[in-house]
Amino acid sequence: MKAQPSHPQLSLGKLCSCLLAAILLAGLGVSAGAQQKTETLYKRLGGYDAIAAVTDDFIGRLIADKQLSRFFTGASTDSKKRIRQLVVDQICAATGGPCVYIGRSMKASHEGLGITESDWQAAVGHLVASLDKFKVAQKEKDELLGAVSTLKPDIVAPPAANK
Ligand code: HEM
Repeated sequence: MKAQPSHPQLSLGKLCSCLLAAILLAGLGVSAGAQQKTETLYKRLGGYDAIAAVTDDFIGRLIADKQLSRFFTGASTDSKKRIRQLVVDQICAATGGPCVYIGRSMKASHEGLGITESDWQAAVGHLVASLDKFKVAQKEKDELLGAVSTLKPDIVAPPAANK
């Protein structure tokens, strides 16, 4: 009786092309996965200039809003520029960009201002309007609004503090 090879169909050539295909597929899978992972919200928003443009528009709307302008009355142009730059840095850093936020905590910088729920809702409305103006897609808009909403407890004063 003739001894049968354990895998009669699998020639060396076939094995090599199978392995090659597997390596190529794995390689494609890894690079597609890695690309998705490195696509930060920062990049999807359009990077630094896009974030700066949205922030400028957003702060312009906050200051122009009669309900919110009281928070900025008396602030010098330079102080407003400072807040603007810190907001840009904060969003850039929070969305995975190359910036470092060196400002104060949200609690330290907003505590005592007496920002109400209604002020917050008005501000969020302005942010949405700015994002819409720059045609930010729904997915990125939701992600940014989600990140900003985590700051709410430190920005909005507890109701008792506003009595
Ligand atoms: C109703 C909403 C808000 C109002 C009325 C408001 C108002 C203010 C005011 C008046 C200051 C200056 C405080 C001071 O120098 O004494 C300030 C600082 C700041 N705000 Fe807001 N803010 C609001 C929401 C937000 C949001 C949503 C963000 C983040 C996206 C933000 C980020 C900052 C930053 C980074 C600073 C500067 C912190 C620092 O001075 O180190 N604020 N805000």
